[in-house]
Amino acid sequence: MTLRHFITTQDWSRAEIDALLEDAAAFKRSPIGDQLAGKSVALLFFNPSMRTRTSFELGAFQLGGHAVVLSPGKDAWPIEFEAGVVMEGDAEEHVAEVARVLSRYVDLICVRAFPKFKDWSVDREDRVIKAFASFATVPVVNMETITHPCQELAHALALKEHLGDLRGRKYVLTWTYHPKPLNTAVANSALLIATRMGMDVTLLCPTPDYVLDERYMAFGAANARENGGSLRVTHDIEDAYRGADAVYAKSWGALPYFGRWEAEKPIRDAHQHFIVDEAKMALTNRAVFSHCLPLRRNVKATDAVMDAPYCIAIDEAENRLHVQKAVMARLAAPVAMREQESGIRRVSPTEDLSP
Ligand code: CP
Repeated sequence: MTLRHFITTQDWSRAEIDALLEDAAAFKRSPIGDQLAGKSVALLFFNPSMRTRTSFELGAFQLGGHAVVLSPGKDAWPIEFEAGVVMEGDAEEHVAEVARVLSRYVDLICVRAFPKFKDWSVDREDRVIKAFASFATVPVVNMETITHPCQELAHALALKEHLGDLRGRKYVLTWTYHPKPLNTAVANSALLIATRMGMDVTLLCPTPDYVLDERYMAFGAANARENGGSLRVTHDIEDAYRGADAVYAKSWGALPYFGRWEAEKPIRDAHQHFIVDEAKMALTNRAVFSHCLPLRRNVKATDAVMDAPYCIAIDEAENRLHVQKAVMARLAAPVAMREQESGIRRVSPTEDLSP
């Protein structure tokens, strides 16, 4: 039997995503459970976190489980990911051992590993989490690599709570200014989940260089076709905001400039006016606004937007706790229970299937 991981929502059907969101809503109503009783979770952070670390650790605790937090290279040994290398560098052990040893201790391995920001053709392969998934004998959960699927679920839950049925609602994913080039993960994920929910999605970004990776644009277009929504790109701020039901902001680095960030900086700096402000929000259909956080106030969005009643970023952050409990409970459930819940019927090798 192949292991079920939660690395990208594209590996999960729309029905399975809806079921996770229903489970999350149930955990929000009733937070304490025993779904992880006697079980444990390893949380591996190669990058900093506030929300993810807190919500995963507390989520495991609230379901009766135990979380072990590790920061490889800081409080745990640095790890090598390349196959067949002579390990003469800083790494003290290989992911082949780390993933298999952790699999003997814990029931889930959760990984945060951002891109290295030098070569997108390398980073887009998502090697770190894929290496964990290939060596682990327990499910692996993505805590943000080149997508952020837990944020996707939290975002979708917050949108449903505030807008109800999301099909046909106008959704704007807007690039916003930040002084540094940031990960495209949340933007990729926003595109995936909004199109999955059948929304009419507009990607607003400064120039064609800021369009997201072709893989996620293609997934978004396919999701839109399958779920009755649409996907378009614009560089016109007023056109994007007018009539929107939801505005989601994120900053990211332009992929053609990966590793050449000094060349990207003048373009980025010329688009500080992409900040989300009240004037832009006034063009919308009384839209909700959200951001994954952390957010630099008055750089990415103004104080007035962040403090407005239509800002649902705090609800979305809270939902991280609930959706991750749903994911952990589902993946850590005994195989038979998971199959029963997902409607899969395993056939015994000796079972007679003749009519
Ligand atoms: N949104 C999010 O993942 O927050 P952290 O980086 O604080 O975990």
